[in-house]
Amino acid sequence: MRFDILTIFPNIFDSYLNESIIKRAIEAGHIEIHVHNIRDYTKDKHGKVDDIPYGGGPGMVMTPQPLYDCIQAVKKENPGPLIYMSPRGKTLTQAKATKMAKNGNKGFILLCGRYEGIDQRIIDLCVDEELSIGKYVLTGGELPAMVFVDVVSRLIPGVLGDDESSAEESFSPALKGKKEYPHYTRPASFKGLEVPEILRSGDHTKIKKWRENNCS
Ligand SMILES: C[S@@+](CC[C@H](N)C(=O)[O-])C[C@H]1O[C@@H](n2cnc3c(N)ncnc32)[C@H](O)[C@@H]1O
Repeated sequence: MRFDILTIFPNIFDSYLNESIIKRAIEAGHIEIHVHNIRDYTKDKHGKVDDIPYGGGPGMVMTPQPLYDCIQAVKKENPGPLIYMSPRGKTLTQAKATKMAKNGNKGFILLCGRYEGIDQRIIDLCVDEELSIGKYVLTGGELPAMVFVDVVSRLIPGVLGDDESSAEESFSPALKGKKEYPHYTRPASFKGLEVPEILRSGDHTKIKKWRENNCS
């Protein structure tokens, strides 16, 4: 699966996407991530990518020209839908991410907004879907794009090892959409709190039942 991320702050992605499961997924060829600097496409002689809003009001708006040219260039490399990360979009859920992870060989182009957002004409002309990661406003679309890459990637077959499978995680069909049971590891006693006896019993039928009863 190929992800192309369009941003004016490409360096933000250097650390998170180069660690742990995402790093391994890239190395194993399950996913590819390409980060593009929208500013590289501006025709403004001062390198500007934002301007004041028509109608007045606070803040700046990302101008359409660099966004449009960047999108057209990336679309040649990635046939997948263009998703604008936006608090106005539909909320990204586990169920939605599961569907997204099955989009075959197509990838995704993720557009990160800044300032007050992007010029509406880019949404009208180019955006296939607006997605929000929750009912709050962040400074930019970079964290939402990383959330999207993370949640979708871990649902692609092969990205997680058997010991890390997503099949029985919170919100999965196996847990009937519920949240996962509590986890414990060694030591058996910590600061006066004991690991539940059943989990130490070795009785797998009882452990399974305990876990089912402790999903919320
Ligand atoms: C400061 S926000 C703009 C908020 C916008 N003026 C509003 O009130 O809806 C700048 C950018 O951050 C991103 N963003 C902020 N919150 C988000 C969220 N909850 N989900 C997805 N993207 C978000 C979007 O790309 C947005 O264009």
